[in-house]
Amino acid sequence: MTDPLPPTPVLETARLILRPIEARDIPAVQRIFPQWEVVRWLHAGVPWPYPDDGAATNMTQCLEQRAKGERAFWALTLKGGDDTLAGRIDLWPFDGEKRDMRGFWLDPALHGRGLMTEAAEAVTAYAFEVLGWPFLYLTNAVANRASGRVKEKQGAELVAIEARDYVGGPAEGQVWRLDRDAWRARQG
Ligand SMILES: CC(C)(COP(=O)(O)OP(=O)(O)OC[C@H]1O[C@@H](n2cnc3c(N)ncnc32)[C@H](O)[C@@H]1OP(=O)(O)O)[C@@H](O)C(=O)NCCC(=O)NCCS
Repeated sequence: MTDPLPPTPVLETARLILRPIEARDIPAVQRIFPQWEVVRWLHAGVPWPYPDDGAATNMTQCLEQRAKGERAFWALTLKGGDDTLAGRIDLWPFDGEKRDMRGFWLDPALHGRGLMTEAAEAVTAYAFEVLGWPFLYLTNAVANRASGRVKEKQGAELVAIEARDYVGGPAEGQVWRLDRDAWRARQG
């Protein structure tokens, strides 16, 4: 058993405000998320083709999980923008078994600018320094190089390759471990 998560805080990076998701984010999610390059390497539980009420259904599930303290969900918003959701990053505790504790996706129009690495660093700092977790297990499809690269840039260590089911079909997945002490050492 893990303790329920506290209320999700607002986190800030150089270029982003990460704020708790809200029901008003549904239209932005429904507009951005159902794109093959976003969903292809997400877990097979994501419905595809994406239904018209997909974002609304997912929002209900997320808000329920958050209310129970099971998961934290942040909307990525650009600093200096209009607070519209441009992506999402989720965090949940280790359940003693499933080596996967974070998920993320970003509007393809914003890929390749280092934004998710920035968001991942803020959420990692929160997990290690505020929640006091000693490690994070992280996963991605081997073929999802951008996601794997975010882990590499954070200093995570590859610990396993496992068969996984993705929206795009079965494929090999990488399991990474990011240890708090190693991460702190890299912060200088
Ligand atoms: C994964 C994702 C969130 C990364 O977001 P991002 O803001 O573009 O990531 P960053 O810019 O911080 O870092 C991406 C890195 O991957 C690299 N990269 C991107 N595509 C690549 C490819 N095809 N091959 C190798 N490297 C690649 C980038 O060059 C960058 O590395 P660098 O800084 O060393 O140049 C984004 O690609 C995404 O939303 N993908 C769809 C959803 C998804 O797959 N989520 C993860 C599921 S595990």
